[in-house]
Amino acid sequence: MVSLLIKNGRVVTADSDSVCDILVDGETIAAIGKNLPMPAGAELIDATGKIIVPGGIDPHVHLDMPFMGTFSSDTHETGTRAALHGGTTTVIDFVLQKQGHSLREALTEWQGRATGTAVGDYSFHMAVTDFNPSTKEEIKDMVAEGITSFKTFMAYKGALMIDDAQMVGLMQEVRKHGGLVTAHATNGDMIDTLIAQHRAAGKRTPRYHYLSQPEVTEAEASGRFTDIANYTGVNAYIVHLTCEGALNQVRRATERNQRVFVETCIQYLLLDASLYGDDFEGAKWVMSPPLREKKDQQTLWAGINQGLVQVVGTDHCPFMWEQKQMGADDFSKIPNGHPAIEHRMELLFSEGVNKGRISLQKFVEVTSTNAAKIFGMFPRKGTISIGADADLVLIDPEKKHRISAETHHMNVDYSGYEGWELTGKIETVLLRGQVAVDAGETKVGRGYGQFIRRGPTIY
Ligand code: URP
Ligand code: ZN
Ligand code: ZN
Repeated sequence: MVSLLIKNGRVVTADSDSVCDILVDGETIAAIGKNLPMPAGAELIDATGKIIVPGGIDPHVHLDMPFMGTFSSDTHETGTRAALHGGTTTVIDFVLQKQGHSLREALTEWQGRATGTAVGDYSFHMAVTDFNPSTKEEIKDMVAEGITSFKTFMAYKGALMIDDAQMVGLMQEVRKHGGLVTAHATNGDMIDTLIAQHRAAGKRTPRYHYLSQPEVTEAEASGRFTDIANYTGVNAYIVHLTCEGALNQVRRATERNQRVFVETCIQYLLLDASLYGDDFEGAKWVMSPPLREKKDQQTLWAGINQGLVQVVGTDHCPFMWEQKQMGADDFSKIPNGHPAIEHRMELLFSEGVNKGRISLQKFVEVTSTNAAKIFGMFPRKGTISIGADADLVLIDPEKKHRISAETHHMNVDYSGYEGWELTGKIETVLLRGQVAVDAGETKVGRGYGQFIRRGPTIY
């Protein structure tokens, strides 16, 4: 077993901050302290001047996913490799049940794509798109597989959406087995009506994607999801929450002592709807929900600091520019999604920590620790403690660098952040004790990534 001593880093977790050494033995952390002795044969990493945080967890990614007539362009191999370059050592990908088919069939299909190919660690959420008596029987089987979170779509009618009757039944069943229900909370019927109206009026540029999903569509569904969760008593989590109206529904729920977990995504903190101009360029940011307004960004930053927003993910769902052209004449045919898996942590460090919007502790919470707790991986993942997986990220806090599609590792030919100059560079990443990335080079290969079985929420 290889051991590794990391000396003199500023080690930051969700509740501590000190300059010390970390001893890694095999895949896990063996000791943390000042002036740790160097074991014979150990390798040394000098982390002087570096910040060391727990490996990032991105609980919202879509890898190699069949969607809107095509597949997202990052595979489990390319997507997890790119994630590692950006300090994200574990991702949670979505398995999509096909309506009329079983959860098991979908799981087998996704396992076939990810097993032996992922470079970084991964787990799965199960997206239930057809809740019926036989799906109901499968919930306990998924929990036994270590898949304890169940995703619902309140939009994408005819493909992924479930109705409220299915939502109630699913929540009741998931609660029985100690799991968590998550939701893409937007009002699918209302959105489909607005899309049809815009298309009929000949309004077909990407900007009408944004105008077909106004804030109310998200606020309404977030409130409905929250209310049904309150009735059933299930652990609930809203994915990719973007706006003030939706967060106010969660705030309202806290008044009756209900806890609903909230994830936002890096793009909703940093980008806004002014990117949807009159040409096709806006297709780069056609995602659901769409980008919002500056006032929503302020709400989300405040929500993080108020503890209402616990997680910053990406909803990484990349498509090549040619795939985006599927909607060249009709915004409703543009595959929804944008690439971000590689830059979530550096963007949040530069624009959040370095610009004084959030503390380093908050950064660790929302990029790693909270997701580990909510999704049942803590303390194996999400912290730096003795016995935890040695998933460690070494950041040079002052180093400047520029984002570009020319240099990124994601399998997509544009960047939503082209030319952005960031301060703070992820230099070295360890995954289960192995140096996975160092100075821009990948050091672990295809198949190094392991499936992470998850337990109940312990938040
Ligand atoms: O635009 C998005 N978000 N694409 C991926 C599917 C989803 O809704 O999360
Ligand atoms: Zn979604
Ligand atoms: Zn998504």
